[in-house]
Amino acid sequence: MGGLSRKASQITRFSAQEKLPWLFLDSGGLLFKQSSLPSGQEEQEKMTAAGIAKAMQSMNCRAIGLEAHDLAGGVVLLKKLQQEQQLTWLSMNLVDAKKKQPVFTPYLLTEVAGMQVAVLGLTNGQMVLDAAPDKVDYTVLPWKETLPKVIEQVKGKAAMIILLSSYPYEVNKEIAEAYPAINLMLTSGPAAATTYPFMVGSTLFAQTGARGKTLGMMRINWTEAGKWEESNLSKIRLEQNRLDQINLQLSRLEQQKAQETGYQKLVAEKQKAEQNINALQEKKKTEGEHLCHFSNQFIALESSLPEDPKVREIMTRTKQQVNDLHQERSATEQSAALLKTLAGWQKCAQCHVQQATFWQKTRHAASIQTLEKKQQQFNEDCLLCHVTLPHYNAAMVKAEKLLLQLPEQLKRVSCESCHGMAAAHAGNPAAVPVPMPKPAEQVCTGCHTPDHDSHFVFADKIAKVRCPQR
Ligand code: HEC
Ligand code: HEC
Ligand code: HEC
Ligand code: HEC
Repeated sequence: MGGLSRKASQITRFSAQEKLPWLFLDSGGLLFKQSSLPSGQEEQEKMTAAGIAKAMQSMNCRAIGLEAHDLAGGVVLLKKLQQEQQLTWLSMNLVDAKKKQPVFTPYLLTEVAGMQVAVLGLTNGQMVLDAAPDKVDYTVLPWKETLPKVIEQVKGKAAMIILLSSYPYEVNKEIAEAYPAINLMLTSGPAAATTYPFMVGSTLFAQTGARGKTLGMMRINWTEAGKWEESNLSKIRLEQNRLDQINLQLSRLEQQKAQETGYQKLVAEKQKAEQNINALQEKKKTEGEHLCHFSNQFIALESSLPEDPKVREIMTRTKQQVNDLHQERSATEQSAALLKTLAGWQKCAQCHVQQATFWQKTRHAASIQTLEKKQQQFNEDCLLCHVTLPHYNAAMVKAEKLLLQLPEQLKRVSCESCHGMAAAHAGNPAAVPVPMPKPAEQVCTGCHTPDHDSHFVFADKIAKVRCPQR
């Protein structure tokens, strides 16, 4: 989420520096990571999405393409966010199943630098049908049924047509070839990678990578000609390449003094290439000034970039809300039966003072503070190994939401993480031994996995945490 505040600061900086009118667009897929919300985390995901939407609004995002992931919380939720934050999600082909009317704005006509720009949204249908929980009420029409009509509608009204599309490249290419009226296509989707803009026919394609790690800035000089100069330029570049190759061959032949027919042929080709370049440059001179230019810049949103305080505040508040949500849930839900099998370290300490005093000095006793420092103390994925629970049964622990309901003294790696659940022993030590008086290596490696501790050597590490003998 830090990416958003960095994005905001870069946009502000850019627009202040350039003093140019600008249009901030997003090609979509920014609200949710998965195409459906993981069960048990719906509320948290929705809160985060609302935070992102709010940040986009504060950044003056003019329009967002509707990509399937944006529907993971349902069509109704997206409409609500749109209304609350006055954002515009664009999709011409997501329609309600009965009336076949578009559910979101199909396209937007907006003014930039005194010029009308049409921004169109096209949604990759199949992915939506896999994702949205309320999908039965909606249908996604194939692009061939909707795009021609929309292009007809905007053609005379806009000086420039931009399409936000979440279709894969092959489909986008087909679209560009069929509709040269589309001047710029901004694409999105889970497979998106940052790609330098390129032409397909007369349409310019631009794409930044998925997950908002890069910001693309395109400076556009749009003229009445209404088409990119790039095509002519690339022809010149191709011809120049050919000429370079011919010259190279000629210089080799001269060295060998092999002035035969091959040599004469090359000289003729050279002349031809030079003529072509001159003709193209002449054409560029007469038309070129009127044709449209662009230059592109990618900015990787690394953590070294400054953050926008306003957007950062929105994101911090959102994180706080998610934490509060978990806290509420922790307090209200019933403690599970499993907790009864755990005594907690303070109980053990009543009889094993020496070992408890030793343990308190180990890193295990501070494992929750470690998460608190990272503001991750309510993240179940982290808690799993940083608290006292039968971590080896992760699925069960997670399903019951136990991790969020733990009493204070189990919120660290304590006695029973190593010796096993021992409430029964604590209640009647004479009759019930602890399950694991001498924890084996496998107990440790349940948490000290290669991912989290690549240097785990049992013999070395046990020496640091083995309780003293009486
Ligand atoms: C009411 C006192 C009492 C409580 C509470 C208690 N124990 Fe014990 N514990 C004992 C006694 C008594 C023994 C066995 C006799 C001995 O070795 O002195 C023992 C033995 C042990 C041993 C050594 C076992 C062996 O075979 O060497 C471990 C480990 C142990 N306890 C861990 C725990 C843990 C963990 C807790 C908390 C969940 C706990 N105890 C709570 C009294 C207690
Ligand atoms: C429930 C999970 C869990 C179990 C079981 C566990 N650990 Fe750990 N261990 C951790 C966590 C988490 C930390 C990091 C605590 C921190 O710094 O906040 C840690 C830290 C340590 C450290 C301190 C870091 C260091 O390298 O000096 C040692 C040593 C260690 N564990 C050894 C062991 C050994 C040996 C066992 C088995 C007898 C074991 N642990 C069992 C989770 C576990
Ligand atoms: C599979 C178990 C496991 C999970 C899951 C886990 N940790 Fe840990 N963590 C450990 C162990 C083991 C250590 C101790 C590593 C060592 O001894 O070097 C540790 C150490 C740490 C440390 C201190 C060491 C350091 O690298 O500075 C931090 C911070 C930490 N974990 C944060 C997290 C966060 C945040 C998450 C969730 C995103 C998480 N952990 C999830 C097992 C886990
Ligand atoms: C990181 C794992 C770990 C944790 C956490 C841990 N212990 Fe131990 N404990 C051990 C190991 C290892 C031994 C030594 C077993 C052996 O080799 O005899 C041991 C031994 C003991 C013994 C037996 C001592 C003796 O006289 O031989 C007791 C009692 C004990 N622990 C109690 C506790 C209590 C109480 C806590 C929590 C306050 C605790 N342990 C936390 C690993 C752990």
